[in-house]
Amino acid sequence: MASRVVYWNGDFVAENEARISIFDCALMYGDMVFEMTRSFRQQPYRLAEHLDRLYASMDYVEIDCGLSRADMEAATYATVERNLPALEGFDFQIMHDVTRGGLPLYDSLIREGTRPVVSINVFPLVRHTGGMAERYVSGGHYVVTPQQSVPARYVDPKAKNRSRIYYKVAELQAARMEAGAMALLTDEHGYITEGTGNNFFMARGNEILTPRGHDILRGVSRGVCMELAAQLGYAVREADIGPYDVRAADEVWSTSTTVCMIPVTRFNFRPVGDGRPGPVYRRLLAAWSDAVGVDIAGQAREYAALRTTWVP
Ligand SMILES: Cc1ncc(COP(=O)(O)O)c(C=O)c1O
Repeated sequence: MASRVVYWNGDFVAENEARISIFDCALMYGDMVFEMTRSFRQQPYRLAEHLDRLYASMDYVEIDCGLSRADMEAATYATVERNLPALEGFDFQIMHDVTRGGLPLYDSLIREGTRPVVSINVFPLVRHTGGMAERYVSGGHYVVTPQQSVPARYVDPKAKNRSRIYYKVAELQAARMEAGAMALLTDEHGYITEGTGNNFFMARGNEILTPRGHDILRGVSRGVCMELAAQLGYAVREADIGPYDVRAADEVWSTSTTVCMIPVTRFNFRPVGDGRPGPVYRRLLAAWSDAVGVDIAGQAREYAALRTTWVP
């Protein structure tokens, strides 16, 4: 069977050989930015938006990766193309990782030198979305964690970076509250910001609310969800939303690239609405599935069936 390869600073290397130095800034300081895109029908989805954000993230942390945006796009398509025989017909995630490179202090020890490292890899979504199949039906449980978001004036979460230890701490706290619970962070005023890898939405009557874009990663899927909701005639508004306000929500859901939308049927140990995925969520997911030509939840079910036997 064909094996996957990784774009690595202009070359392609075997996925299981792709390495960075222990002296790379990414390992020393979490000093790197990244992107996660997914495919539908094996075509990168909303790649332009993901690359816009990647270049904005690089600009924020002042990394010049040496590739123009057009070069990066070409490298992305080349990576997909090279890997198609190894992707077995599955949809996949595309990960862009850009590190500042090796620390000059250790230059003679770093095989790749000290320039930024750009890598692009693709990986079938079998485990990731397959593992979430049940959630499209029963929904997730958001719990507000003691760990809060870092205000944008310290480290701006709009830049997708890997200095993410506070998200991990939030996940550990959520797991202690209930196995499988999804961590939901708040800002210093107690308003909801985002999950550790997803954005928050709630529906109340005909209105859809999502936190303002200050202290969050402005998800590409968040943008898609807002677009689709507007097309379907919902009033969509960015707002300060406190946990108190969620009591009045008919529905809650999260958005993120790989799974698109996951219904949230419990919030802080209480049911949301009637405790089942609601009509607004279902309409939006159907519209999203139509737009991309893939039954999103159906694909996750299909992948779930393969998950235990599929070997990456
Ligand atoms: C902290 C955080 N918020 C939100 C998101 C959702 O963003 P997107 O829809 O672009 O995947 C992510 C995705 O990884 C994330 O890490």
